[in-house]
Amino acid sequence: MARSHSPPPEVPACYAIVHPGLEELAAEEIQRDLGAEIRRTAEGIVVFRVDAVDARLLEMRLTEDVFLFGWGTDQLTYRATDLDQIERWTARGVDWQHLLRLHHDIRPRPKGKPSYRLVTQMDGKHVYMRKDAGKALARGLGAHIPDSWRPAEENAAVEVWLTINGQTAICGLRLSDREMRHRTYKGEHRPASLRPTVAAAMVRVAAIRPGEVVVDPMCGAGTILAETVAYAERFRGQGVAVRGGDLEFGAARAATLNLRRIGAPHLCWWDATRLPLPDAETDHVICNPPFGKQLSSPEEIGPLYRGMVREYDRILKPGGQAVLLVSDGNALREATQAVGWTPTKRVRLRILGQSATISAWRKQGG
Ligand SMILES: C[S@@+](CC[C@H](N)C(=O)[O-])C[C@H]1O[C@@H](n2cnc3c(N)ncnc32)[C@H](O)[C@@H]1O
Repeated sequence: MARSHSPPPEVPACYAIVHPGLEELAAEEIQRDLGAEIRRTAEGIVVFRVDAVDARLLEMRLTEDVFLFGWGTDQLTYRATDLDQIERWTARGVDWQHLLRLHHDIRPRPKGKPSYRLVTQMDGKHVYMRKDAGKALARGLGAHIPDSWRPAEENAAVEVWLTINGQTAICGLRLSDREMRHRTYKGEHRPASLRPTVAAAMVRVAAIRPGEVVVDPMCGAGTILAETVAYAERFRGQGVAVRGGDLEFGAARAATLNLRRIGAPHLCWWDATRLPLPDAETDHVICNPPFGKQLSSPEEIGPLYRGMVREYDRILKPGGQAVLLVSDGNALREATQAVGWTPTKRVRLRILGQSATISAWRKQGG
């Protein structure tokens, strides 16, 4: 990204922070669902332009946070001179009052003295520390934040974020709040539960159509099914039929409670290798089985994956599709070869520090 500033005209660029590895899928969602023009992607970042800045920006499911763009560069030097640049670009390169007006259109200004928060994220071997970059940001913003505003640690009315990754830095005004990444349905938590944005990416890969049947046989806290229901809102009346369950009674219960918040059905206590579901009636299996680390041992993974894939093959319609998130790609490939599935897509990402892959597979026939 050559250094650039938000141009004075009405609609500034926006950017999204996304889970690393999901940039392409998130850009596709932003482009299709918002009609946006994608300007560029970098690790964990998608920069885009929309015709109007409105609340639809907050409806993106693959985005962790969305911002009005202030400035960006891909020419940081790792040296202390970066700090002067950060201060200068923040102080002089951005029409913060314009960005604040747009921000208040989406997130109305609270009554009383507004609160603000500055957030600095930094990754890379810079000679300065994250807190030095944060101080440079604060100095740059000094003249733009009225004295009457009070700093806050959380739930601030206004947040300015600076995200540095190696030579790249991007700075802007946050439009989203924690609900965008955490959602409102996830009251019950389970170990190894997926980030909602990653579950949403799996649903996006599945490209579900109205009226189809979607099953998550190892549903944990129900994140994938909740994201499926949210995705299907675009189908209005027709929706999709979701089914799911888990071997752990506590998980099936947690998922049922979470999904009740969005009006989805009761989930089952079952074994994914022996499902009480009919042959060839499911359009999509979307599932995140244990990785063989946190929830079961590596030796158990081969037999588990073989058993589950055989069962998913039985319940899928001819030509039906499975979207699976695993860490041990070899164990999964071996299991899918045994039933003759064809791979159709792969997305690599990291989950809790481990490399993982979302892969899509098509059953024969159809
Ligand atoms: C990685 S977690 C799934 C997390 C889930 N996607 C979420 O977002 O909460 C894997 C789940 O598989 C379940 N599981 C393991 N073996 C199973 C089996 N044979 N049948 C059904 N569920 C199983 C575990 O209990 C666990 O809840």
